[in-house]
Amino acid sequence: MSEKNIMSYETVALDDDNSALVILNQTKLPAEVEVLHLTKQEEIWNAIYLLQVRGAPAIGVAAAFGVYLAAKGMKADTYEDFYTQFKAAKDYLDSARPTAVNLSWALRRMEQVVLDNAGEPVATIKDLLRRESIAIKDEDVWMCRQIGEYGLSLIKDGDGILTHCNAGQLATSKYGTALAPIHLGRERGMNFRVFTDETRPLLQGARLSAFELFADGVDTTVICDNMASQVMKNGWVQAIFVGCDRVAANGDACNKIGTSGVAILAKYYGIPFYVCGPTSTIDMSIARGEDITIEQRPAEEVTEMWYKKRMAPEGVKVYNPAFDFADNELITAIITEYGVARPPYTESLKEIFRKKQEAQKK
Ligand code: MRU
Repeated sequence: MSEKNIMSYETVALDDDNSALVILNQTKLPAEVEVLHLTKQEEIWNAIYLLQVRGAPAIGVAAAFGVYLAAKGMKADTYEDFYTQFKAAKDYLDSARPTAVNLSWALRRMEQVVLDNAGEPVATIKDLLRRESIAIKDEDVWMCRQIGEYGLSLIKDGDGILTHCNAGQLATSKYGTALAPIHLGRERGMNFRVFTDETRPLLQGARLSAFELFADGVDTTVICDNMASQVMKNGWVQAIFVGCDRVAANGDACNKIGTSGVAILAKYYGIPFYVCGPTSTIDMSIARGEDITIEQRPAEEVTEMWYKKRMAPEGVKVYNPAFDFADNELITAIITEYGVARPPYTESLKEIFRKKQEAQKK
């Protein structure tokens, strides 16, 4: 394994000189730190589908760089020809995963650049796309830091925090969302005791959250998902921070499978349950959690992956949804880059977007 601390790697980056998307291959972590340089659209699509790059914000940034690279390589004499090719490349990347709205959000934002500059030469539009993809990444860093600040204001030094999946630096451009308060707290000399659910079946908690928290010097304990209740009962958890992949207008928050169970336990034990996510993860066009498309993944992730030998009988049925959603009534607050939204979310999320609009006018 590399000597370099994992916190000093970039999760996702653009190498424009070599026309490559550069990502940390998260399927190999923590055993091996492998940096991938992807130049073909199929490689980028696969990287998203296979979770080599994962986490809602990181997927969005990767797709923005990906579609810029596709556009850069396009040969087109007319705007119409360029837009037809661009739209095909955008739709292709958008099909890699359905649940995290950041993927389509980032790609739509890139498409808007093309549409807004219809009269410009193709070379100019390509340059604007490059700038927009870099802006999407830079804004992601800012949003995560803001979420970290708001999250940190809700906890105190020494608190026990439970998290599910990985909504950390490895899932974003920096800091993370759910883990941002913890990383920011570390920068300020604070210490938290973090319990990270291993997060079956792909173990993002055990492999990724534990890895980055540990590297940041955080007191970290990995637990199996079914141990969360016991840890809460022991009185070891003062707050729960999770990320999100798509938040509906009513505050239902879709995140890694198992999140709804954690939210139910939190309610039972009276522990605040915070969902952390940028406004790019809030989808006001979706009324409620039931309307969110949940990605179904291959059975082998449950029956074979991580085991030396297959551990379930051949031919047995497997149900492998990658996400579920926490009902808005279980959520204490939704922490965004524009502030902390509290129930009723139908109102408070609109207020968050109002604040965003105001800030963007300035
Ligand atoms: O399937 P994954 O690993 O992409 O799922 C990731 C999550 O569920 C994260 O919690 C979510 O994307 C937020 S990342 C800041």
